[in-house]
Amino acid sequence: MAVIARLEDVTMSYGQRVVLQNLSLDIVEGAITCVIGLSGAGKSTILRLLNGLRRPDSGRIYVKGQELGSLSDRELIELRRSIGFSFQFAALFDSLSVFENVALPLRENTTLGTDEIHKRVTHALESVGLAGAEEKLPAELSGGMVKRAGFARAIITNPDMVLYDEPTTGLDPIITHLLTDTILRLRNQLNGTAVVISHDLQSIFMMADYIAMLFEGAVIAYGSVDEIRASFNPIVQQFLQGSEVGPIPI
Ligand SMILES: Nc1ncnc2c1ncn2[C@@H]1O[C@H](COP(=O)(O)OP(=O)(O)OP(=O)(O)O)[C@@H](O)[C@H]1O
Ligand SMILES: [Mg+2]
Repeated sequence: MAVIARLEDVTMSYGQRVVLQNLSLDIVEGAITCVIGLSGAGKSTILRLLNGLRRPDSGRIYVKGQELGSLSDRELIELRRSIGFSFQFAALFDSLSVFENVALPLRENTTLGTDEIHKRVTHALESVGLAGAEEKLPAELSGGMVKRAGFARAIITNPDMVLYDEPTTGLDPIITHLLTDTILRLRNQLNGTAVVISHDLQSIFMMADYIAMLFEGAVIAYGSVDEIRASFNPIVQQFLQGSEVGPIPI
């Protein structure tokens, strides 16, 4: 199995607070890897590292065979073009319409003409259930719609790897299902790799090829959905059951 990205022995702190400690994780190419863990466990940090938005205190991050720490700013920008990022708190430009927000990566990074851009943006908006919202401004959207527009923007360039930070948190079950399905469809159509952070176990069980559970700075369990569900690790079991009773300090 090919590995498209790897965190190797990564330690990462914010000030005094060590968030990741000697963490290693392989992201399998063409697969959907879901990262689970408690709030504050460092899940978003993993995505920031994979995208080169942050550098680790120690350890190495590899994406498509390149070690991010060895890249120049220009090379890093180039590599980032092949990575889509759907942010936990969708970051849209307030003054741009939904259409223009989603079209932005195509305008900035490709030489596609107006017609092709129109076709792709329309298709991306349809796939996240936002057909008809093209001309709206972010301020006119519900929270869920903002999130879905950010999602459409993350996938618009058909990136090799898409990082989704809580793509469905706070959305209703129907949209959650639609977005989970979109992540799956992208994987199937493009053989694209996805790393998804989610608290929604139902949608994780539906889409994940691999699940990595973070706890106290490291990956304490990694495997297929069936393997994780059958894990004997009491921390994994407590997390899956959402129980207050168990080894996880509350
Ligand atoms: N820029 C920052 N400066 C200081 N502390 C930070 C910063 N970013 C994150 N942290 C802290 O690092 C820890 C891990 O943050 P991270 O955002 O990776 O967690 P998370 O697992 O994504 O949590 P959540 O499920 O709440 O989104 C948290 O305790 C957070 O408060
Ligand atoms: Mg987070």
